[in-house]
Amino acid sequence: MKVLISAEQIETRIDALAREIAQVYQGQPVTIVGVLTGCIVFVADLIRRLDLPVRIALIHASSYRGDATSPGQLTISAESLPDVKGRHLLLIDDILDTAQTLSKLVAYLQSLQPASLRVAVLLRKIGRQQIPLEPDFCGFEIPDAFVVGYGLDFNDEYRHLPYIGVLPQHVPKG
Ligand code: IMP
Repeated sequence: MKVLISAEQIETRIDALAREIAQVYQGQPVTIVGVLTGCIVFVADLIRRLDLPVRIALIHASSYRGDATSPGQLTISAESLPDVKGRHLLLIDDILDTAQTLSKLVAYLQSLQPASLRVAVLLRKIGRQQIPLEPDFCGFEIPDAFVVGYGLDFNDEYRHLPYIGVLPQHVPKG
């Protein structure tokens, strides 16, 4: 496994991200909406560094996909989402790839009439985005490779790794 971003680099960046986020919200209560399952490690680490009053909500987005990188029809399961109307929402996902998932989740959450909605992603893959969407907070920009670890999976494996790695068969050439 090639390590793309080490556990130490992630820790340092999340410290800084937490400060950026707290600076923007200026003590206002925030409802974190994490996108399952990839968000779990990122959300767990970020919220413990956030100096803000925080509520945690989780949403599940699944796409029927032909392969690991091509999302199809997206299904949003939000049964366990608390009332978000009039709240400041911070939508947190592991990775912004094509932006299909996040753009649909943003539209869905906007329809619930929050006071504000911002987006934070741990990773943003360069050169794959199909839909315009600028995350308000981004941990790292990465090259177009399939990454795993720190919450991200391949066939539901590797989520537990403390670093972001590239599987040997997915290492870009050159
Ligand atoms: P989207 O293409 O931006 O809609 O990303 C959809 C989802 O695909 C992300 O939330 C991830 O769960 C998954 N995904 C995209 N790229 C990767 C990757 O490199 N590794 C693991 N999962 C990925």
